Amino acid sequence: MSSLTLQSTLKLTSGSSIPRIGFGAYLANEEAVYNALNAGYRMIDTAEFYRNEVECGSALSRWLSETGSKREDVYYVTKLWNSHHGYKATAEAIDESLRRANLNYIDLYLIHSPLSSRKLRLETWKAMQDAVKAGKIKSIGVSNYGVPHLQELLEWPQLEIKPSVNQVEVHPWLPRKDIVSFCRENDIVVEAYSPLTRGKRFKEPVIQELCKKYGDKTPAQILIRWSLQQGLVPIPKSNNPERIKANLDVFGFSISDEDMAKLDIKSYAPVAWDPTTSDL
Ligand SMILES: NC(=O)c1ccc[n+]([C@@H]2O[C@H](COP(=O)([O-])OP(=O)(O)OC[C@H]3O[C@@H](n4cnc5c(N)ncnc54)[C@H](OP(=O)(O)O)[C@@H]3O)[C@@H](O)[C@H]2O)c1
Repeated sequence: MSSLTLQSTLKLTSGSSIPRIGFGAYLANEEAVYNALNAGYRMIDTAEFYRNEVECGSALSRWLSETGSKREDVYYVTKLWNSHHGYKATAEAIDESLRRANLNYIDLYLIHSPLSSRKLRLETWKAMQDAVKAGKIKSIGVSNYGVPHLQELLEWPQLEIKPSVNQVEVHPWLPRKDIVSFCRENDIVVEAYSPLTRGKRFKEPVIQELCKKYGDKTPAQILIRWSLQQGLVPIPKSNNPERIKANLDVFGFSISDEDMAKLDIKSYAPVAWDPTTSDL
């Protein structure tokens, strides 16, 4: 675990590599995305729903031109909103996301949630497979999929490209062991959203204790480090330049097994929404 660095990546079934940590762009402004790239994040996580794909694309292109970096140096993730499930609507939504961000490919495209119907979810996947074949997307995945939703997709006879990623809310108060182990068994990387619990658990005694023990770490750093050590890909969000930087300062220490066990909390407490339990 000590060998983890800001440059570490995980290999996806698509063959691409995903950074071990990303910048969550929900409610983030253009300056925050630009600051995140300057601070060292190499993944931007946005969505149609966040209504900031234009700003994410602008921040990316500004940063690329100012630093002379290449498009391949940054991993761009966006998501299909629920109202656009279905073959035609998905194909159009992909083109719209590309247009808004002024990109010629998306690194990872996710179905934001399973909230539609089996028919629409699978038609959506077909459109995403076709977009990969057309070179518009490098890797495809899902978000907020529970185990039954993942099984539905993996057992679909027309599946040609397996999901590379499932992005779900995961933190010590929502460990989601069922989903995480199912994904691990099926070579699906789990991205952890709301990894900071949106700040709601920062004052928990166990977090405060570990902040002191590891030498004045912030609650956010403890939670991000926990996520990394669980083998997850955390995507913390901040609009504050100092917090954007501090949230990346998580590679110089590691939480002991004994302290990881203290964070093994039997709890099911989402801070965002929870479509993982929705009916098929
Ligand atoms: N797929 C989905 O359905 C889904 C759902 C939710 C989220 N997500 C993704 O996951 C990302 C992260 O989740 P999230 O935005 O819900 O929550 P989060 O990252 O757990 O927490 C963000 C909140 O914590 C604050 N914060 C950040 N760093 C801090 C620090 N060092 N100290 C104190 N406060 C700090 C931020 O405020 P400031 O900005 O003021 O710092 C913000 O209010 C999203 O941006 C989005 O990309 C996906």
